[in-house]
Amino acid sequence: MIRIKRGGWRFVKLIVFSISLLPLGSIVFDAVHHNLGANPIQMLQYRTGDWALRFLLITLALTPLKMLFGMVFQMRYRRMMGLFAFFYASLHLTVYVGLDQSFSWAHIMEDIPKSPYIVVGLSAFLLLIPLALTSTRRMIQRLGRNWQRLHRLIYASALLAVVHFFWLVKADLREPAIYAGVLAFLLGVRVVHACRKVEVRRRKPEYRNQKSEDRILISNT
Ligand code: HEM
Repeated sequence: MIRIKRGGWRFVKLIVFSISLLPLGSIVFDAVHHNLGANPIQMLQYRTGDWALRFLLITLALTPLKMLFGMVFQMRYRRMMGLFAFFYASLHLTVYVGLDQSFSWAHIMEDIPKSPYIVVGLSAFLLLIPLALTSTRRMIQRLGRNWQRLHRLIYASALLAVVHFFWLVKADLREPAIYAGVLAFLLGVRVVHACRKVEVRRRKPEYRNQKSEDRILISNT
């Protein structure tokens, strides 16, 4: 196993952080060079939305990697990946409110009933807010086990984000279907892992009882 010193982990963290900013860099680069196609606002909407969803799925993939392969180093980056999901989702919302709707609340209120997928997207975003607010070390310590319970909201947010994507595409469902497949797989791994844990716990007392029954039998014979 490769051993990395404390300073080394900081360096790795910096690299992961820089890589996570690359999508933003590429979006800004294309915007500056007028490379966003015929409908730049829609393209910004698509690209920020895609990255918000990808980071949500990356965050959700880190624990299954541990469950399936015993890998643990990636667990250090859970918080960072989750915050990047929130960051890209915030940009996505800002593009909608600021560029698409020009901060006109009247327009937004008109648009929402016409586009139910926006309500679903907004719900996915709202669920991420408490997660982002409680992502500090202090909050993790203060909330204890409740922190883990609260952070299960990320599953609901990812589910809503996939529904949001399915709802807004008109014809070609392939892309949202791929995201849905990945999400189903990641959630499936967790469910199987949780079932196994329950099974092991359920068997333990049985096993002990069995052993003590055997002991009684042996001592009686
Ligand atoms: C966690 C939150 C969210 C995620 C992960 C997300 C994800 C996505 C994705 C993946 C797309 C499609 C991109 C593509 O076609 O390549 C999209 C499009 C879009 N989203 Fe979101 N979204 C979220 C929240 C929101 C919110 C809060 C709003 C608005 C209030 C919103 C409005 C839109 C709009 C207007 C589009 C483009 C629809 C179109 O022009 O066809 N989304 N989003």
